[in-house]
Amino acid sequence: AACGNSDTGDKPADDGKLTLGFSQVGAESGWRTANTNSIKESATAAGIELKFDDAQGKQENQITAIRNYIQQKVDVIAFSPVVESGWDTVLKEAKDAGIPVILTDRSVDSADKSLYKTFIGSDFVKEGKLSGEWLVNETKSATGTVNIVELQGTTGSAPANDRKKGFAEAIAANPNLKVIASQTGDFTRAGGKAVMEQFLKANPKIDVLFAHNDDMGLGALEAITAAGKVPGKDIKIITIDAVKDGMQALADGKFNFIAECSPLLGPQLMDLVKKVSKGETIPQRIETEEGTFTPEQAKAALPTRKY
Ligand code: AHR
Repeated sequence: AACGNSDTGDKPADDGKLTLGFSQVGAESGWRTANTNSIKESATAAGIELKFDDAQGKQENQITAIRNYIQQKVDVIAFSPVVESGWDTVLKEAKDAGIPVILTDRSVDSADKSLYKTFIGSDFVKEGKLSGEWLVNETKSATGTVNIVELQGTTGSAPANDRKKGFAEAIAANPNLKVIASQTGDFTRAGGKAVMEQFLKANPKIDVLFAHNDDMGLGALEAITAAGKVPGKDIKIITIDAVKDGMQALADGKFNFIAECSPLLGPQLMDLVKKVSKGETIPQRIETEEGTFTPEQAKAALPTRKY
């Protein structure tokens, strides 16, 4: 049973059920909450015993949780790595213990791909690219410089690295598009608000905000409104995720474009847990399907949006 944030205690007597040890990044965003719910609900539905640990944004907590799962001899370990690097040692420990590891949502930069069975999640570079391509099209008739500010996700995380890269590649198509400031807001509303306040103070002319997730965009909305500017008009806003609150802001015309990142990875993960524990071969990479939203599309999608 769960105890506080984690239930990494001793493994109960074997009841024949598969046991999955899952280390979650934290609870930094609406996306993350939806992802946690998806994992918990689908473990129950699949009859898999879930040991869940919330790392509160700290890599060392994730490493401790993984080591606990190894000690408890769980059948499979899955985790969403907070940052990309620094996982080789603990992944090797899991491999030596004969416990298969599945990466969900975020990947690691380990050169040795045999350290994990598969990586299931989005193509973050593509999300950044789609965001940049929308802007290139939107500003194709602009004559002067278009000043962009960027709110990056957690420093060192795969989505922050990749979304920045994809966006930069796409906007290179128009030399008028200039990123004048780029800083981390750690994927949180509070972070987005605080950094946007600094951006607004330091830069009299901001035309566009690219936020690496909805939550930072939502925090930035408050800063923009407080500065007497109209979000979505004076400053165009592009975000990533498409959680309900973000979609509502888009439908209301406060955001202008969202590239989707789906948190609903639970059902696919449970399926893979069953397969790897039977020793079945699974693909090394499983990419999540996702789209993009304009305000009109957000209006249409909102009534049936699940998260
Ligand atoms: O790894 C996925 C990212 O992490 C989501 O885009 C963001 O909202 C979350 O915190």
